[in-house]
Amino acid sequence: MILEESVREVIDTARIEDVVGDFVSLKRRGQNLTGLCPFHNENTPSFNVNPARNIYKCFGCGVGGDPVKFLIELEQISFPDAIKWLARRYNIKLKEKELTDEQQVVFKEKESLYLVNEFARQWYEQQLYETDEGKSVGLSYFKGRGFREEVMRKFGLGYAPNSRDAFTRKALATGYKKDQLQKLGLSRNGRDFFYDRVMFTIHNLTGKPIAFAGRILKKDAKAPKYVNSPETEIYHKSNVLYGMFQAKQSIRKLDNVYLVEGYTDVISLAQHGVENVVASSGTSLTPGQVSLIKRFTDNVTLLYDGDKAGIKAALRGVDILLDQDMTVRCVRLPEGEDPDSYLQSVGTTAFVDYLTKQRQDFMIFKAKLLLDESGNDLGGKTAVIQNLAESLARINQPLKRAEYIKQLAELIGVQENLLVGQINKAVGSRQKQLQQDAQRNEWKARRERPQPPPAPGPDSGGADPGPQAPPATHGDEGWPGAEPGWYGDEQAGMDPGAPPPDFFPGAPPPPVEEPLEEELAIGHTYQERYLAILLMRDGAKLYDEATNSTIAQFLLVNVQDVLDDFDSPFYRLVVEDARNYFQEKGKPADLDYYLAHADQKVRKLAVDSSISRYTMSPNWVSKYGKYLSQKLPEENQRAAADSFIRIFRQEKLQRKIDQNMRKIRELQSAGQHEELIPYLKLQSELIKLKNQTLGENMQKFTPPKYY
Ligand code: GTP
Ligand code: MN
Repeated sequence: MILEESVREVIDTARIEDVVGDFVSLKRRGQNLTGLCPFHNENTPSFNVNPARNIYKCFGCGVGGDPVKFLIELEQISFPDAIKWLARRYNIKLKEKELTDEQQVVFKEKESLYLVNEFARQWYEQQLYETDEGKSVGLSYFKGRGFREEVMRKFGLGYAPNSRDAFTRKALATGYKKDQLQKLGLSRNGRDFFYDRVMFTIHNLTGKPIAFAGRILKKDAKAPKYVNSPETEIYHKSNVLYGMFQAKQSIRKLDNVYLVEGYTDVISLAQHGVENVVASSGTSLTPGQVSLIKRFTDNVTLLYDGDKAGIKAALRGVDILLDQDMTVRCVRLPEGEDPDSYLQSVGTTAFVDYLTKQRQDFMIFKAKLLLDESGNDLGGKTAVIQNLAESLARINQPLKRAEYIKQLAELIGVQENLLVGQINKAVGSRQKQLQQDAQRNEWKARRERPQPPPAPGPDSGGADPGPQAPPATHGDEGWPGAEPGWYGDEQAGMDPGAPPPDFFPGAPPPPVEEPLEEELAIGHTYQERYLAILLMRDGAKLYDEATNSTIAQFLLVNVQDVLDDFDSPFYRLVVEDARNYFQEKGKPADLDYYLAHADQKVRKLAVDSSISRYTMSPNWVSKYGKYLSQKLPEENQRAAADSFIRIFRQEKLQRKIDQNMRKIRELQSAGQHEELIPYLKLQSELIKLKNQTLGENMQKFTPPKYY
């Protein structure tokens, strides 16, 4: 683990013009430098480097960032690897911290699982190419499908012979452990899991084998066509797309990915020069898989069978794609053909031609399809409009949505505002709810830890149920997030070839983070992010010597009762994760834990916490600046945590109070006086709680035993 001070030294030293210059030939243009963008294909330079600000930006494809980000994106390496690369480049000696014993065990354990899988991959390959059975059964099958050896090697195809323990015996004799084989699903009770099948290796993004799929060759009604490795420490199905390792460079270059269903479709297309293709492996897309695609492109082209099942599969996946602002197109193949079979039957040229000519926008495709099925009566049309509105509601970009509304209204033959009305209904709470669910499920699946027992709520006993003076209405004006950031600038309207003369205008320096403006503008998201950053950065530090409590304990205890009111499911989960860690380990998680977290988004936030300046919503600063600690947070973590929590709780509780008040008024005006009592009770409890968090009234903090 590299020490934070070393990371800082590297970041402070690295010059954007040097780093980019190592990969791109740059020409001076005024104060800046320009060159051909390494992230997309172009003939006129729209890639700009600004040495004064130490950043790059491409006006053609919109990428931009600092030297570290450049390396991470271009070379597809991790943050620590980028730091190491830069350290070598600038002869900086990195100070590293020893891994703890515990971390070492986890690290070694994972590494060894990759090694076992690598052994298995080689063994299956050897069976395919070097044994009689493999050659006559497996190899002849692949050759019969037209696969050439070079592509078979590239995808790690192999053969598992018709023996119940040949692999397991060999692996044990070579020194691999029984429980590792078992864990990876390669063996079960000493017997081979994969046998009498041709084998497909599933790789992670760096090309390590993480799982296998075996396809049966015999027609056997009882046995499944494919068997797959189970979910393991190194294989999380919902975050993997088959073929991504082999396809990623091509996807980035062509700024498009073809999404197919089958392993064999990927291999067949790749062999014929269509390399930007990955498979969802027969199941519907997950949000994690879409995030994976999003690292390389925003454009997805669905390539599914022309039959009913194929179209259904396409329809199923598309809303998840729209949720993450992907542009979705589709190509409908002739009835009864899958990509592989159609390619084989018409040949490469005709196939590629078909892809380009038949490619259409997915929303338009869907609209036509629905209209075809619905008939032209009013009821049918209404159903179509409703269905389309649900999808349109997921599109976050206003311009794009407006364009669709225009086109679709015309296609259906209705007024635009009819569609708009339906969309408005569908937007809002429902969409937010769905996203929350999706993310929560993903985390749940990933979390290996047992759920903690319910944590103690605040002590709120003895509340006086008497009537309350109505609280000052506070409204729920939102928290406009950060100023429109530099990265967030839409490329729309910019001529890729000619950057505007006032390139990089304006005073504020660019943030190191990804664009978060939109996300952060929702409710209290900005504050919740700040809380997560405090937890990560300062959590392990001391809060109070007298009680020997940590910042994490202080923060966790004080946000426990408002967790349900978090606007961002992600930051809420960060808090829950911190709590689980504490309850399990008896000490708070430190930054290293977050930097090595299984969830990529968490890792990224950890990096941000360690290298980015503290920022609060400008709105917040103007509203509460006078309450905030005068010292920089870095100088006084305890004061920072105190003032943060005070304001955070006030905001959350005030919102609850307002919501509850609305309910009370509603019931009052409806004359439902009996139902009022619990709400009035709650109101007084909330107000009491809020007063406790105000100024000097805040109790002295002693952590409960529980934390
Ligand atoms: P071929 O028939 O050899 O062309 O294989 P294919 O990959 O085209 O298979 P198919 O179109 O039948 O299925 C598409 C994808 O669904 C496969 O690549 C698998 O990922 C998945 N799949 C199909 N059948 C099974 C099965 O029985 N079990 C599992 N786990 N996955 C399957
Ligand atoms: Mn097929």
